[in-house]
Amino acid sequence: MYELLKKDGRAKRGRLHTVHGDIETPVFMNVGTAAAIKGAVSTADLQQIGTQVELSNTYHLHVRPGDQVVKKMGGLHKFMVWDKPILTDSGGFQVFSLAGLRKIKEEGVYFQSHIDGHKIFMGPEESMQIQSNLASTIAMAFDECPSSVADRDYMQKSVDRTTRWLKRCKAEMERLNSLPDTINKHQMLFGINQGGIYEDIRVAHADEISKLDLDGYAVGGLAVGESHEDMYRILDEVVPHLPENKPTYLMGVGTPANILEAVDRGVDFFDCVYPSRNGRHGHVYTKHGKLNLFNARFELDDRPIEEGCGCPACQMYSRAYIRHLLKAKEMLGMRLCVLHNLYFYNHLMEEIRDAIDAGRYKEYKEETLRGFETPED
Ligand code: GUN
Ligand code: ZN
Repeated sequence: MYELLKKDGRAKRGRLHTVHGDIETPVFMNVGTAAAIKGAVSTADLQQIGTQVELSNTYHLHVRPGDQVVKKMGGLHKFMVWDKPILTDSGGFQVFSLAGLRKIKEEGVYFQSHIDGHKIFMGPEESMQIQSNLASTIAMAFDECPSSVADRDYMQKSVDRTTRWLKRCKAEMERLNSLPDTINKHQMLFGINQGGIYEDIRVAHADEISKLDLDGYAVGGLAVGESHEDMYRILDEVVPHLPENKPTYLMGVGTPANILEAVDRGVDFFDCVYPSRNGRHGHVYTKHGKLNLFNARFELDDRPIEEGCGCPACQMYSRAYIRHLLKAKEMLGMRLCVLHNLYFYNHLMEEIRDAIDAGRYKEYKEETLRGFETPED
């Protein structure tokens, strides 16, 4: 159940009650695709850096180790030793971005595993069954994420099929939640809005899926190559057509600036690989924009990545030391950068929540965006 605690302009401050505890929103979900945050980050680390929700992928866990293995091990929470909420993406997006040869039919998608090429079929029912075996807190509907350059005719056909798939997801989830050997009988289901950059298709789809009384609603198919302006325009149009009293999730987004803008348009859930991926490449976030720690100017810099940051890296180590670790390809270098970046994102969300609570979100957003553009001394 989602409680809308406060609105500041269109920005929402909410709380989602789940069987694995409450989620304070706006929230950033930390991405652990194959049940691990890349960069040797443990679930104990996640506790320390303020993670509220971990996100894993149906497709990856289905091909390896197999959702039956995870189920036999007691579900994803037990398996990875994380007792807070977990959201699983449905496989839809990953099938389209990763898998080899694929064929989309009314019943679902036929494709080849990116690990060993073996043939797999996944449709709405299979995706729900796999997510039920994983026993995540929140399951995502099985959707098609069409290319950002898909023509209007294809987009409409695809969105109509995604709606039919969503109805099948809902029926299957209700059935699975009522079975005696289901691990999480309170698994939530979020629907996904699609339609590319065609506003009218998006809005009609949002209106239609809003009638299904799901636990939350995502906006998918963005940050797939369109401009930031297109993304903000779509959010301006679509979010008002999704239920305000349910969580709104912008999938796969994004930069700190994207998050600040999307919160201002009513979004309350985010996920993105940027903090972990950039951290693995020595790129670290600060209030004054991103730094590349490989840069020679950090060779003798004894300051932490960011003054005043509460993360494990900044508590102990200098930029000079972390730069050395990165250059020497020591795993610790990557790990410290990833921990700092995830802490930065989680902390940014905490500041966003505080600013909405205080009714000063617009000012906070403007100040923070200005800071990102102002290099440090
Ligand atoms: N992750 C980022 N975008 C999408 C999307 O459109 N659909 C799904 N299922 N996952 C996503
Ligand atoms: Zn830090």
